[in-house]
Amino acid sequence: MSDLPRTDFVWQDGSFTPWADAKLHIMTHALHYGSSVFEGIRFYETPEGPAIFRLKDHVTRFYDSCRIYRMNPSVTPEELFDACIDVVRRNGITSGYLRPLAFRGVGALGLNPVASPVRTLVVAWPWGRYLGSDALEKGVDVCVSTWTRPAPNTHPTLAKAGGNYINSCLMKMEALENGYSDAIALGAGGTVSEGSGQNIFLVRDGVLVTPELDGTMLEGITRHTILDLARRLEIPIRAGTVPRETLYTADEMFFTGTASEVTPIRSVDRIPVGSGKPGPITRRLQEAYMELVEGRGEDPKGWLEVVRDMPTSKTSTA
Ligand SMILES: Cc1ncc(COP(=O)(O)O)c(C=O)c1O
Repeated sequence: MSDLPRTDFVWQDGSFTPWADAKLHIMTHALHYGSSVFEGIRFYETPEGPAIFRLKDHVTRFYDSCRIYRMNPSVTPEELFDACIDVVRRNGITSGYLRPLAFRGVGALGLNPVASPVRTLVVAWPWGRYLGSDALEKGVDVCVSTWTRPAPNTHPTLAKAGGNYINSCLMKMEALENGYSDAIALGAGGTVSEGSGQNIFLVRDGVLVTPELDGTMLEGITRHTILDLARRLEIPIRAGTVPRETLYTADEMFFTGTASEVTPIRSVDRIPVGSGKPGPITRRLQEAYMELVEGRGEDPKGWLEVVRDMPTSKTSTA
């Protein structure tokens, strides 16, 4: 089953290319060694028009990932920021997903990547719920993966690098094969790290708990948003070590991620989380998050970047 998106134009190194012409040579370094970094950004229909959520923060993380991998894109952060807006506008998409990507192109094929020039592209497409159409409402069943996340100082997990995601693919395939929607990974030390493409939160006795940044996970922008919303809602927070067994005793649990948004988890390894239904703190945070990204609530931090001058809209995930 293919869910490959198709839109009119992609942006490559400063100009637009029709979708069908966006091709790469087979000797592209990133294809052989995973030498790419990327972002995943959502934009939503709001009363002001399509708005990209936390675009500035995603661009910052993108360039941080590049620095970690000694990649110097020829486009500046300001140009990439504008490119993201332009791709949405040019394709006339009112809600969906944006994928900026920098990768080592064609140059040399040894392990020294510097002879392979860094190329940058941005693609946008309409995209619905990542974990299924009723995942936000009903929650998902997950397992603890037999695969662990990379140990600190192996693959730098604060960099959102293409190569990191072969680990995520192993987790995701195993989970699906075994009848789960997704997986939770432990870190190298055996405590809870994150999902295959999401951060994780637990609730126990009214306290919101999430693993601290320990060099095994991505610092999610949605994670940061949820911590900010929890503070605003005066929900007590603890970021720290999360032993695996607390997954089986939590009252509530949910994934956070740009793609997954705030997805309740209703069971782990077939053990129900709490009552097996999304709990009240999960619901409050999920509602606050959706209100924020859809421009229905306040945006005190200026996190919504409205795309002005849209053509007549053609596509939407709604
Ligand atoms: C491995 C991993 N962890 C966490 C996240 C959540 O990050 P964010 O909230 O910035 O999308 C993602 C999503 O990109 C991810 O791929």
